[in-house]
Amino acid sequence: MSPVDRPLRLGVLLSGTGRTLENLLHWQDNGTLAARVTCVASNRGAVRGLQIAEEAGVPSSSFRLSAHADRVQRDRAMADWVLGHDCDLVVLAGYLALLDTTAFAGLPILNIHPALLPRHGGEGCWGHHVHEAVLADGDEESGCSVHLVDGEFDHGRVLAQWRVPVLSDDTPDSLAARVFEAECELYPETINRIANGELDPGAGRAEGTDA
Ligand code: GRF
Repeated sequence: MSPVDRPLRLGVLLSGTGRTLENLLHWQDNGTLAARVTCVASNRGAVRGLQIAEEAGVPSSSFRLSAHADRVQRDRAMADWVLGHDCDLVVLAGYLALLDTTAFAGLPILNIHPALLPRHGGEGCWGHHVHEAVLADGDEESGCSVHLVDGEFDHGRVLAQWRVPVLSDDTPDSLAARVFEAECELYPETINRIANGELDPGAGRAEGTDA
């Protein structure tokens, strides 16, 4: 992707609380995000993330599986809606499902994962499960990873990571809070690096397959 003379247009996909969306909007409002949240799609209805989008005046829509023949059709409808908003980049923000990346017409798709991939990634490794696994394995550090989304959970090329220490008295909750604080810097910073042409999410990108 080459540098653009307009803010990068982000299509945000989420499933729940929308803390990641909230943070991106916070950076946007402060003028520190070289991008604009252009639309927000959810695979679940009536979640807080959609409410945050609505309050911010960002077009939003939900694409529940029950309203479509199958996941591929649902993902196609969601992708068409996102593409209709002329997005440059798709950003997963707590999106808790596999995604048919082929439906997004080659747009780069980013995710942020709350661990140092490839450690503690893959199916079932989400939310508190990740932090419980880090503590159970006695890891001395954890962190977060921004990566490209391909056909497998938490599998695409890692673009950026932020390390945090694991403390001896950590609980899954205290570790999750420290990691999320790092995410709130790493995700917008990585988007900014893409927006200013410093980081090319297209180069060496794995071909999207049915996720
Ligand atoms: C974080 O754990 C992040 O790493 C993962 O989703 C969680 C945030 O979800 N991708 P949300 O923004 O609070 O819904």
